[in-house]
Amino acid sequence: MQPNEFHIMLLPNLSADTQGILAVPAAPFTLKSMIPTLEWTADGVRFLDQTRLPLEETYVLATSYQQVADVISTMVVRGAPAIGVSAAMGLALGVSRSQAATVPALAAEFETMCTTLAATRPTAVNLFWAIERMKSRFGELAAKTGATPAHVRDGLIAEAQAMYEEDIQACRQMGAHGAELLPQRGGVLTHCNAGALATCGYGTALGVIRSAVEQGREIHVYADETRPFLQGARLTAWELMHDGIPTTVLCDNMAASLMRQGKIQAVVVGADRIAANGDVANKIGTYGVAVLAKEHGIPFFVAAPWSTIDLKTPTGEAIPIEQRSPREVTHHAGKQLTPNGVGIENPAFDVTPARYVTAIITERGVLRAPYSESLQELETAASR
Ligand code: MRU
Repeated sequence: MQPNEFHIMLLPNLSADTQGILAVPAAPFTLKSMIPTLEWTADGVRFLDQTRLPLEETYVLATSYQQVADVISTMVVRGAPAIGVSAAMGLALGVSRSQAATVPALAAEFETMCTTLAATRPTAVNLFWAIERMKSRFGELAAKTGATPAHVRDGLIAEAQAMYEEDIQACRQMGAHGAELLPQRGGVLTHCNAGALATCGYGTALGVIRSAVEQGREIHVYADETRPFLQGARLTAWELMHDGIPTTVLCDNMAASLMRQGKIQAVVVGADRIAANGDVANKIGTYGVAVLAKEHGIPFFVAAPWSTIDLKTPTGEAIPIEQRSPREVTHHAGKQLTPNGVGIENPAFDVTPARYVTAIITERGVLRAPYSESLQELETAASR
């Protein structure tokens, strides 16, 4: 096995008395270093269905751009970078399936595809970044002399595939930059899932943890369960256990107590959008964790690719926060938890003010406050 390679076993459901006897997997297969969150195939875009994890490892095949939009809205795929690349693949798929005979006719259809995909989830800026990049590539391809719908299609498929590869590369670079910020030995708290499942592979926050573990650091991960969608309990725990990284799940209301007991040496989370001043939108509950970390003198790191940085949005105040269905709070696995008619709040994200963020880890390097300056400096340096 290669150093970064791990196996996913399709395990049968085990009854209580057989738990612990995991020696005979139903159908083991080897992955080249990562979980196949999403994948371009000749038949459509294949997604690991994250709504069914951790008990079922099943895949869905989207064969139209509308299905890709659905897969994003229903959180079969989720996590800012994965949403962005999924949208790009959705557009490539839409153009591949189009019957348009001319490039102008294809352009009109493409506009509708972009609008449909942009309407799926409002907070992760990676979605809009990806759509803009595909639009710009469409423009370049369409402007070529003798351009045909087939040329545009091939170019857009290649662009979406390049974005997939770049995302994995960015995660690995983030991991390399961020690993040394983590303790040589100790507990690291994370919130939600910013792992391989939230990206095209390896992960942002979990990429930093993976990289630290690969360097030989002895990290014990504490994963907040992340109510109401349980990304921590279901997804972070699942993917870290497949990697053999020691992991403990805790209810969201337990972090303060663990910090006070000295069990947490660092916090690392992902982001859905980082404003120009360094304010960070991430999964609801992140803000609370950041405040607790500051109170306990624990560093709070944010790992995100540059596609999550939104220099056009001045502060966190201007970041749109997705409100999701009350049913995610009132019900669990089809069972009602709350009395009929009670008021429900379900914002999917919150904003952590920049003053709580010890460092932002990106593929371009580690940024420190004042973020309005460090973000702008790295942006300018990259565009030279
Ligand atoms: O609602 P989700 O599951 O899409 O929210 C995901 C998060 O909040 C992640 O922390 C964020 O997207 C970063 S993923 C690398």
